[in-house]
Amino acid sequence: MNLEIPVNEPDRQYYYIERAKEFVALKSKEYNRPLTYHVTTFGCQMNAKDSEKMCGILETVGYVYKDSEDADLVLFNTCTVRENANNKVYGRLGYLNGYKKKNPDMKIAICGCMMQEDNAREKIKESYRFVDIIFGTHNIFKLAELLVESFASDEMIIDVWEDTDKIVEKLPTIRKYPFKSGVNIMFGCNNFCSYCIVPYVRGRERSRKPEEIISEIRELADDGVVEIMLLGQNVNSYGKTLEDPVSFAALLREIEKIDGIERIRFMTSHPKDLSDELIEVMASSKKVCPHLHLPLQSGSSRLLEKMNRHYTKEGYLALVDKLKARVPEISLTTDIIVGFPGETEEDFEETLDVVRKVRYDSAFTFIYSKRSGTPAAAYDDQIDEEIIKKRFDRLLGEVQNIAAEEAKRFVGKTMPVLFEQVNHQDESMITGRLDNNALVHVVGDKLLIGKICDVKINESKGFYYLGELADLPSRS
Ligand code: 5AD
Ligand code: SF4
Repeated sequence: MNLEIPVNEPDRQYYYIERAKEFVALKSKEYNRPLTYHVTTFGCQMNAKDSEKMCGILETVGYVYKDSEDADLVLFNTCTVRENANNKVYGRLGYLNGYKKKNPDMKIAICGCMMQEDNAREKIKESYRFVDIIFGTHNIFKLAELLVESFASDEMIIDVWEDTDKIVEKLPTIRKYPFKSGVNIMFGCNNFCSYCIVPYVRGRERSRKPEEIISEIRELADDGVVEIMLLGQNVNSYGKTLEDPVSFAALLREIEKIDGIERIRFMTSHPKDLSDELIEVMASSKKVCPHLHLPLQSGSSRLLEKMNRHYTKEGYLALVDKLKARVPEISLTTDIIVGFPGETEEDFEETLDVVRKVRYDSAFTFIYSKRSGTPAAAYDDQIDEEIIKKRFDRLLGEVQNIAAEEAKRFVGKTMPVLFEQVNHQDESMITGRLDNNALVHVVGDKLLIGKICDVKINESKGFYYLGELADLPSRS
């Protein structure tokens, strides 16, 4: 019997998808209703994309999505980048136990970054015995195989890989939006910023082959997708480790040629690897959006060195000047950490200085979180919480004031908007995004969802704009 199980991927997983399908069909006959699933995603866009892939597998197996966690299968896709991300998971697991008591056949699975950490895994093993399956970030493609194993056993199934060089292509997936999609171009990170757990839980950098990426995007375009977001921890170093190295800029030029794709976004860029070639592509491209998320982390060259970021304040500012000169309409956004070990008032002032000089359109501000296993966790000059809190509030105030002022520069202009959904508060309105990712609300029909239309921007409300349709759909 075992001889029949394919060894190679993805064939092996298609085999297990069929086995899982049989089990789900049987159970559903027994219950006289479909089996349901729910996936709860914590963390970043990379996790959101992984969850779409796992939903694709679960739906192929025959599970039907349920919008709440009292489902027959609940999967938590976890994040561990900051301590509070972990705490949220433990809190939510408590609820799941309540559901499982009412539905003893219920399966509970946890995967993602947090499960790559020994102490988090041990805690689940000891204190959350009702969990059925634990897996990590490197083997999400194995979901069907793990499910089949779990259907046949009452034991907790644990399958976490330290690292991988594998990229399994061509498994089922679903999309949250019909008209836009994330596309992985690379996995993992080699940068080892001294505060960051990601390289430990997502493994070494590996790039997908350009032909796999292009063919996926072609299929997406044929299926009605007009906007793609290329995903990687550090997209600027895309392709360096491939057998035939390709630059990120060259990849973008190829993607630009795909008919049907109107907007190309990407995330995240590391300042140390941002090439002139990429800036030229951004300047000349009609499809690459004039938006760059360029994490600063700190404005102090002294701290940047301790963070292992490989650039200085001056280097960062020079890069921003170059970007603004070549792409004048560019929107810049960033990530900033407050309270990194050893941060002095002077260091913090340097961060404020960069914020004032760059004038970001928005910024994610984070309080430093000590992640065990990272070099910075062992630094003995951790900062007092009260001081951090005060700095954080000052930074947030500055960031918000500047963002509100910058937002005014588009008022009065007519710009293309991709409509995404009906407005939550007012059903006569629809909500979309400018090419710089800013939100715009207009009075309009939901039939425009998925279309790009010209919109006159009438008013800036800080975090969003109010506008009006300038004409019928301009494109797509
Ligand atoms: N503490 C606070 N913020 C962190 N980030 C990464 N690690 C930590 C940490 N230990 C932030 C960085 C990164 C973003 C995704 O999360 O700003 O760019
Ligand atoms: Fe973390 Fe730095 Fe890698 Fe970003 S580049 S994922 S901050 S180690």
